[in-house]
Amino acid sequence: MPENDTIIQATANHIKSLLSGEGSGHDWWHVYRVWQNVLAIAKHEQADLFIVELAALLHDIGDHKFHGGDESVGPRMAQEWLESLEVKATDIDHICLIIKEISYKGAGTSSAMNSVEGQIVQDADRLDAIGAIGIGRAFAYGGHKGHEMYNPAIKPVLHDSFEAYKTASAPTLNHFYEKLLLLKYRMHTKTAKAMAAQRHQYMEGFLAQFYQEWEGRL
Ligand code: ADP
Ligand code: NI
Repeated sequence: MPENDTIIQATANHIKSLLSGEGSGHDWWHVYRVWQNVLAIAKHEQADLFIVELAALLHDIGDHKFHGGDESVGPRMAQEWLESLEVKATDIDHICLIIKEISYKGAGTSSAMNSVEGQIVQDADRLDAIGAIGIGRAFAYGGHKGHEMYNPAIKPVLHDSFEAYKTASAPTLNHFYEKLLLLKYRMHTKTAKAMAAQRHQYMEGFLAQFYQEWEGRL
């Protein structure tokens, strides 16, 4: 089996070539930011960094949103890749489980993670959905899907099934209430909670300004 650092670097290169230029918010730079976030969080946790880094790099390798809603594609692609690098089976299983469980599935659904490594990667992924970057990604995704930016007549829905959440086509502003403003309360680690608090406040400011501008008040 190659050295850990070599495996991580090869995986980063692989993902970069697969996801570069993707325009809906799941591009290589999202993965890069999640990678930076996991490093920031893991510094303060007792965790297996090899697992954390590889799961961060591979977490969007086959996102269900781009494979007709099929959630098994990502873990399978990750498994094949890690097997080709001769990563040991227990590590592959752990990484694939994290990738399987990481996704947000609606406000009324649970998203427990079974290991500290999983918690770190989920926190890191969710941090990239909030704050300035999160706002940018939400509008990029909404534009990609052809959603309206805002429509005061369409109220947010707190989805209680993954099916309802993933097929929604509501305006992008609704997504703030259906997901983004809820993420602060779902962080696992102390470091991510602190980062999320700051990013959350930034989004609150954005929304307040947005509604003022909408009515020509600022
Ligand atoms: P996760 O990584 O938690 O599974 P997703 O893959 O669902 O998150 O979402 C990826 C990015 O696209 C996030 O920034 C998310 O907020 C954004 N996004 C997902 N669904 C919508 C939507 N309906 N409207 C706007 N942005 C969305
Ligand atoms: Ni992601």
